[in-house]
Amino acid sequence: MRKLTLLFCSLFVLLIALQSCNQAAPEAETWESEWLGQTKQEVIDNAEEQFQGFSRTMMEVTYRYQELYWAGMDENWEYAEYQREHIEEALEQGFVRRPERELSSRQFMNIVLPDMEKAIESKSAERFMQSFTQLTNTCNTCHQMEEVAFMTVVIPKNRNTVIYF
Ligand code: HEC
Repeated sequence: MRKLTLLFCSLFVLLIALQSCNQAAPEAETWESEWLGQTKQEVIDNAEEQFQGFSRTMMEVTYRYQELYWAGMDENWEYAEYQREHIEEALEQGFVRRPERELSSRQFMNIVLPDMEKAIESKSAERFMQSFTQLTNTCNTCHQMEEVAFMTVVIPKNRNTVIYF
């Protein structure tokens, strides 16, 4: 009986020893990177800095705003809807980086962009122009609310696009 107890005890000790071997200290994560950084914090800081804030978003929105206009002038409704959707997506991505901007854009996001969708669906040049004018005014409403009123958006005058219909 004693021998059996001894055997069980040794087995138990052996199991515990094996277990602790498995739990060796985790190796530090390493990776190769040209400029992104050598520590997790450096990588996070660099990625955030490279994505930048809202001016990046606005540069994309401005390009798409102009394309939307000329798509409407061409009555290329598929391209117009494509650009309208991408304006929405660009702004949503911008709010992830700068959530404090979202409040001032409510009218633009919740009223004007959905109205533009309907205008595009209607395939009426007149209805499009009506919605586009409202859209332009609402760009400026947000600029006023965000204290960049000196950036006044006006309806594009010159065509600068490679997409023709
Ligand atoms: C959140 C509300 C908001 C809406 C909606 C908005 N903007 Fe802006 N816009 C801003 C803010 C804030 C800045 C300044 C960004 C900064 O300081 O980083 C800006 C800057 C700009 C700039 C200057 C970008 C640069 O750095 O060169 C342009 C151009 C611009 N907006 C165009 C537009 C157009 C066109 C629309 C409508 C289609 C629009 N914006 C809608 C808030 C908005």
